[in-house]
Amino acid sequence: MKKIVVLISGRGSNLRAVVEANIADVEIVAVISNRPDAQGLVWAQQQGLRTHIVEHQNYVNRCDFDVALMQLIDRYQPDLVLLAGFMRILSAEFCVHYANRLVNIHPSLLPAFPGLHTHQRALKSGCRVAGCTIHFVTPELDCGPIIAQGVVPILDEDTPESLAQRVLSVEHQLLPQAVHDFVSGKFSIDGNRVIRHSKIAVDKNICLLN
Ligand code: GRF
Repeated sequence: MKKIVVLISGRGSNLRAVVEANIADVEIVAVISNRPDAQGLVWAQQQGLRTHIVEHQNYVNRCDFDVALMQLIDRYQPDLVLLAGFMRILSAEFCVHYANRLVNIHPSLLPAFPGLHTHQRALKSGCRVAGCTIHFVTPELDCGPIIAQGVVPILDEDTPESLAQRVLSVEHQLLPQAVHDFVSGKFSIDGNRVIRHSKIAVDKNICLLN
């Protein structure tokens, strides 16, 4: 059984997608939020998951917060630490401590639009497609090896909200699949690339999920 700690800051719909996927040989051992009012915490508690709050505002600096978070996470000895809408930038020490077992979901097609306000920026840039990226976390923000990406069209009438909704529905498909592939050892990291051990069915002209 592979142990996963999930970090959230808000709604928790990606957490929910992972839990509801019932991935074989996976146990969500804890859900941790940096915000006490995160909606996802309520849902996690209703599912009987163990939850914790480590409120970043209670720490004088990022380093102290990260150390407290690491101490809590390490109690669970997780195989994977999943950032599912966790809205804090993590220190280099944190990223190195969980190297190759720290995974984030980001709502853009990286390396385009790292950071915040991704949907507004994609619309403003005139992109015809948008999407999400699941990647290993390294000290450089939103730059680690990419596990999977999902692509959606941008429509003329899109607003940041409508685009966010379309991308989110792909996030919910892609994240459980990526977690499944991680825990079943279906890929390895080679420099900044993720190499799959077996071929997956992709249309070589249009790249969609994975
Ligand atoms: C998602 O769009 C995720 O890509 C981003 O934050 C959002 C979190 O949504 N990092 P939720 O809390 O999982 O509903």
